[in-house]
Amino acid sequence: MTTQQYPPEPFRIKVMEPIRIVSREEREEKLKTAGYNLFALNAEDIYIDLLTDSGTGAMSQEQWAALMRGDESYAGARSYHRLKAAVEDIFGFKYFIPTHQGRAAENILSACLVERDQWIPSNMHFDTTDANIRARGGQPVNLVIDEAADPANPHPFKGNMDIAKLKAFVAKHGRDQIPFGMITVTNNAGGGQPVSMENLKMVSAVYREAGIPFVIDAARYAENCYFIQQREAGYRNKSVKAIAREMFALADGMTMSAKKDAIVNIGGLLCVNDETLFQRIKNELILREGFPTYGGLAGRDLDAMAVGLYEGLDESYLAYRIGQTLYLSARLNDAGIPTIQPAGGHAVYVVANQFLPHIPNYEFPAQALGVELYREGGIRGVEIGSVMFASFDPKDNAWHYPALELLRLTIPRRVYTQSHFDYVANALIRIKSRANELRGFKLTYAPELLRHFTARFEPL
Ligand code: F0G
Repeated sequence: MTTQQYPPEPFRIKVMEPIRIVSREEREEKLKTAGYNLFALNAEDIYIDLLTDSGTGAMSQEQWAALMRGDESYAGARSYHRLKAAVEDIFGFKYFIPTHQGRAAENILSACLVERDQWIPSNMHFDTTDANIRARGGQPVNLVIDEAADPANPHPFKGNMDIAKLKAFVAKHGRDQIPFGMITVTNNAGGGQPVSMENLKMVSAVYREAGIPFVIDAARYAENCYFIQQREAGYRNKSVKAIAREMFALADGMTMSAKKDAIVNIGGLLCVNDETLFQRIKNELILREGFPTYGGLAGRDLDAMAVGLYEGLDESYLAYRIGQTLYLSARLNDAGIPTIQPAGGHAVYVVANQFLPHIPNYEFPAQALGVELYREGGIRGVEIGSVMFASFDPKDNAWHYPALELLRLTIPRRVYTQSHFDYVANALIRIKSRANELRGFKLTYAPELLRHFTARFEPL
């Protein structure tokens, strides 16, 4: 057993949702029918679902009560004004719109600002941000510090931007070729790792000196601010909310998937300070999502978000949540299972190519581990490796594989308990004892773009 304590939940359970585990034979059958793609499984056939922390959180009694207060007026609803008050209080930007989720905010921002062949730097773009920039002809660039590529490196802020690389990049391309710059907090694509306030200040200074607007991808900003409070000198006595205000004062805007740190099942935000840009954003929103006071959501969704934004900043909740991730990570590490160090905010990332060193990347080790975890325990994680990110380059007629081959065990907010995490850890530990028997996979179908969602496989 690990010495890492499981944090007692700062809540008790009032509504329960039954889950069940189907038999081993059925799991084998379901895998075959799904073409060994975990995205193709039905949720009812999964016992513990760690596919994502997005929109999968449990809402509180206050959020459910707020749903009942939802004002469904088309324009100027009370719900909008309650959300506006929360957004202004927490983030401090001058203007905002609600969107139906994070990628809608990314789409609108890209539509308003990105022109063909322009560059958008970040530490690491999430895949929907990357795709929205590309869809407008732009070129996303990742400039995270080198430590991020080494799973064992315990750097406390592995989501940091490489400032030297950013400076050189900005000097080379300049304001004309860089319509805005970004940073993702926490850095999901790089293991849910935080960015330090010191680094954010430097990033802001580089962008601002060059006259480049600075936009934060704030999907998991509260978890990031909690890490700053716990790990960065000078922040121990500041509230997470005060740290958030300090962070957003460094930026000119933000996109946010509210399905993460605002603990709602649907919703997003786009905030800016520039009035002219805001006018264009509103026009784009009306065209694609809805009127600016509801932005593709129901009034009740805005109310749930207004409440959830504060609950996501609650420090007893954050201590429990981050402690939970640390607990699962420690249980695996104690059994010799390698995960990205330190544990991230929202997920534990198992380093699959070290877990299964005999399976080469072109036979998809993280996919093999994900399938085996479902077979063993009815548990669903998500492959973040060669299925998701390998790309064929016609220039050298070769496949290029990502540096990290990961199985992400993503933790929904306020949903699972210690016994569920022990169950997950024990299943992986049993797999480890016979890891050398596992085999890789070959693709039998793969679309050209975002292939992980619909690909099909055969076991080798
Ligand atoms: N930015 C980050 C950092 C994200 O992690 C996500 C979604 C988005 C933007 C897009 O937001 O889904 O509301 O449109 N991440 C989910 C995940 C899907 O599983 O990591 P969305």
